[in-house]
Amino acid sequence: APGAARWVPPTAGLEDLRAAAPACRGCELWRPATQVVFSRGPAAARVVLVGEQPGDREDLEGEPFVGPAGRLLSDALREAGIDEDAVYLTNAVKHFRFEQRGKRRLHKTPTVTHLRACAPWLEAELAVLDPQVVVALGATAGHAVLGRPVKVAQERGRLLEGRYVLTAHPSAVVRLRGRDGFDEAFAELVSDLRLAAS
Ligand code: URA
Ligand code: SF4
Repeated sequence: APGAARWVPPTAGLEDLRAAAPACRGCELWRPATQVVFSRGPAAARVVLVGEQPGDREDLEGEPFVGPAGRLLSDALREAGIDEDAVYLTNAVKHFRFEQRGKRRLHKTPTVTHLRACAPWLEAELAVLDPQVVVALGATAGHAVLGRPVKVAQERGRLLEGRYVLTAHPSAVVRLRGRDGFDEAFAELVSDLRLAAS
């Protein structure tokens, strides 16, 4: 993959980045996807949350975190006392990667090649926003943000390099719903978000 760099406008503001993203052909993921899912939230946000990639709902609506993972994240933000409208929500990869199974589209984790290809967008976003804290939601986002493989269980719950917080991906917590471990996983997510906002 040639990567997104040649589609990312230099010295761009957030609105320029958002406007340029639909043209990106930095990897092959744009082709089967419905549309690019860039981000939502204000340029003045002090806290940035980075997910893995848009899901099925996000791909259809063109907005990040509007599906089941997004609802759980909203609940967790509320419980942590964080105004969702004041944070900036984005993803490490901006197009939905999936496998078609009949009528269903099953999420496929992006590869390191996809992360690398899409990284210029996230780098440009972080350069523009210059946030105080960046929260990586899950191991894939953590890899993208920290530039190395990470283990959520070992590194969550503390400030890394003075600026990063690694926590669970909300989709992983959604999958625990109705099972042992859900309450604890949700409480950890809330406590990690609270740490990020403090
Ligand atoms: N999961 C993500 O990582 N990002 C989204 O935008 C939605 C679900
Ligand atoms: Fe470009 Fe990222 Fe989409 Fe690939 S996933 S086409 S690099 S925006």
